[in-house]
Amino acid sequence: MALLTQTEATLPSTWYYDPAQYDRELDAIWYRDWVCVGRLDEIPNRGDYFLAPVGNQRLIVTRSAENRVRVYHNTCRHRGSTLCTSDQGHFRNGRIICPYHTWSYSLEGELLATPTRIETEDFRAGNYSLYAVHVDTWGGFVFVNLSEDPAESLADFLGQEARELENWPLAEMESVHQERSSLACNWKVFWENYSECYHCPRVHPELCKVVPVYKKGVLNSGDDIEWQPEFAGDDGRPRVAAKFSTWTFDGQSLLPPIDGLTSTERAVGMTFASFMASMFVVGHTDYVRSVRLVPTGPESVDLVVDWYLMPGIRESHAEELARVIEFGRLVVKQDGEVCELNQQGLKSQRHQQGVLVPQEQGVWAFHEWLRGRLGACA
Ligand code: FES
Ligand SMILES: [Fe+2]
Repeated sequence: MALLTQTEATLPSTWYYDPAQYDRELDAIWYRDWVCVGRLDEIPNRGDYFLAPVGNQRLIVTRSAENRVRVYHNTCRHRGSTLCTSDQGHFRNGRIICPYHTWSYSLEGELLATPTRIETEDFRAGNYSLYAVHVDTWGGFVFVNLSEDPAESLADFLGQEARELENWPLAEMESVHQERSSLACNWKVFWENYSECYHCPRVHPELCKVVPVYKKGVLNSGDDIEWQPEFAGDDGRPRVAAKFSTWTFDGQSLLPPIDGLTSTERAVGMTFASFMASMFVVGHTDYVRSVRLVPTGPESVDLVVDWYLMPGIRESHAEELARVIEFGRLVVKQDGEVCELNQQGLKSQRHQQGVLVPQEQGVWAFHEWLRGRLGACA
């Protein structure tokens, strides 16, 4: 993506805290696109479930049979009570039972029983199945789409970004560590920060040692900087420093390398795939990390960070894993802090809009994407 050649305005500041704008974005993006809500291995057995919020909606993600994931709104068809209150659990005997008047549903969402209801001629249980949500999986990740008629398949939505990671055996890999945090910022602030490295020299000194091009305040060497071989791999993508192989404090990998990566993928040491608005995934030579966003309000977003290894090596490589986690945790924390500062400053009554500098072309592209999505739904 070329650098910006002129000063562009940012989005209006009110878009980062106005509840009506937040609702517009939920409708235009979060309730229309495929959104990652977790991993298949969180529900290994039939009847296992976890709850997943998407915007203001509460969903039940369950496994109804082997290889069959089902997702329902967490709402009873009788008078709309919440069905499940525990964040995760297991439906005993394959029954989802409402805590209010004990209507019960099968894992396939059919209404099975309505105890003590006085029968009437016209009542048809078949009319009161749970509200089902579209679901599909990729690489072990569970994606939902709240639209009743999704505009595209999950495969089309994932597109080229998923192909970037096709050499990583994501479905086989297991999450070996998860960290959750809450940020006091609008979800867009997170993606804007992700979309530029102008902040990197100041905010990420440790990361800049690992990825030299970041010291220049740009995301890749295609930007207008004096090119140096240490900046990019054969394919022009940004790379880790010479003699470094992965994201750790010293750039050294002590975990077993993941088989099947190309020589370029090994050399650059990091391959990003972004599945806006809910997740990005980074494939390294020895581990994978995903960062999932769960907006919780106009000025708050939860982050769920997972680290993945090949199965069976977690115990034997606990120390090596700890080094990897420590580095990722630091970068996430550094980004979180500036995101929160950004959010606070945006509330100034004088600050109607900011400006973008040339190397914030990724932020501009994000704004264009957002405006397009909002326009399409206007
Ligand atoms: S609201 Fe669920 S059974 Fe009445
Ligand atoms: Fe950052």
